Amino acid sequence: MTLPDPAVVVLVGAGGSGKSTWAAQHYRRAEIVSSDELRGVVGSGPADLDASTDAFDLLERIVAARVGRGLTTVVDTLGLDPERRERWRAAARAAGLPAVAVVLATPGPECRRRNADRDRPVPAPVLTDQLRRVTALTASLADEGWDHVELVTPDEGGDEDTRRLVPHRSPEGRNVAVGDHTATSRPPTGVRVVLQLSRFPWGEDPGGWLRGMALAADEAGFSGLAVMDHLVQIPQVDSAWQPIPEPWVTLGLVAGLDTRLALGTLVTPVSFRPAGITAKAAATLDTLTGGRAFLGIGAGWWEREHRGHGIGFPSARERLDLLESSIETIRALWAAGTKAYDGARVSLPETTSYPRPVHDIPLIVGGGGERRTLDIAARLGDACNLSSDPEVLTHKLRVLDRHLAAAGRTRADVAVTVLDLPVVGRDREDAWARVERLRGRTPAAAFARRTNAGTARQHRDRYAELAELGVSTVFVGVRGLESPDDVLALAELNG
Ligand code: UTP
Ligand code: MG
Repeated sequence: MTLPDPAVVVLVGAGGSGKSTWAAQHYRRAEIVSSDELRGVVGSGPADLDASTDAFDLLERIVAARVGRGLTTVVDTLGLDPERRERWRAAARAAGLPAVAVVLATPGPECRRRNADRDRPVPAPVLTDQLRRVTALTASLADEGWDHVELVTPDEGGDEDTRRLVPHRSPEGRNVAVGDHTATSRPPTGVRVVLQLSRFPWGEDPGGWLRGMALAADEAGFSGLAVMDHLVQIPQVDSAWQPIPEPWVTLGLVAGLDTRLALGTLVTPVSFRPAGITAKAAATLDTLTGGRAFLGIGAGWWEREHRGHGIGFPSARERLDLLESSIETIRALWAAGTKAYDGARVSLPETTSYPRPVHDIPLIVGGGGERRTLDIAARLGDACNLSSDPEVLTHKLRVLDRHLAAAGRTRADVAVTVLDLPVVGRDREDAWARVERLRGRTPAAAFARRTNAGTARQHRDRYAELAELGVSTVFVGVRGLESPDDVLALAELNG
């Protein structure tokens, strides 16, 4: 079953229909607001009807506070009061969250049987009335204005069978498999997933840490390992005094391990090294790995790291010119032979440079600049690297396709890769704990949305959708990776 997430989820069902059980199976405890539980907080226990007014006052305040922060909120009451339902729908609307009604349509006899087993059963006529009202409501709920209505009926095996009464229509909501544990095996996504390492919390044993991370990436089924090329750790990742090692040296260590990983940079700024040196480094890596190197290349963007290392930082126009000429130089030095090269922007008296690469090193142009970067990618790249946000990506691909058409090339010539920076948790609870740990001062709901916080399986399903947009490779910079065990826990991304 898939429900939008985040969302306001309003449960509807008679006593004993399994509302609280369903909520606990699919959501974190803190996401569930239960009138029974609050009766127990402000009254003598969950069945203390004298405490109802106070409990519902509290419930409304909690719902308003959570929904106002854009946090998923599951309202666990009978759900039979139309005014309350309307208020929760309105709160969802105001917060830009999808409003979801989930009806627990457990047959009457089963509810009665479960009710009878309880410490404090609901009186039989009360339960009968509830069952009648739920049945009536099930017919009319579709007209109330929910974004999504889900009917949950237990089958004989006790498994859920769900039926959708209102088709999902909430553009802001991600569709998320809320019942992760019930999911069965899926077809392969068709995308290659390359792990991008951007932080190096390697403690006292940097080499050992790096070896461990690379071996774990191989074992977890990643297609490759990419490292950033920066001289100072970038603010998007960590503080400036955290280590960010030189990529070609770093990849040299990994090249010495027994793995099948493709290795390369994402991305090397052309401003850092003369193009001939980058060509030499990538060709050497390709040789040492038996043809597993790739080269991500870009115009460079961060002035500070250039200045601090005594490297010139020319204008954007000059850097883009340099990107074009660098690609030409690199390709000339990778091609067979030693002859002179005379190209559009570059002339070399000879192209003697050995070792030559052992395979066609994919040259991935990073950046989504629409006028020049994507044009350069379309004309000169083997691949481009774009945002994994489907909306942004769809737009950039339209621009890329225009440049490709103008250049007389196609997507068969230029593969589409994306950089994805998700939060991945073992389960919903763990994903949220990571959001809290990593979000800094960004509001949790915004951070969770931006990072698609969820389980590996959920990300894998998202990658399957990216594949349908034409993405061949996802570079995944999982946030907060600390240890090889963290990497092994990502194996399902590669299923
Ligand atoms: P719940 O306590 O989940 O029902 O299940 P509910 O709808 O929230 O009930 P109220 O309205 O708060 O009173 C009731 C009993 O049914 C069992 C649970 O273990 C619990 O004892 N149950 C629930 C099942 O046996 N199977 C299920 O699929 C769901
Ligand atoms: Mg309950």
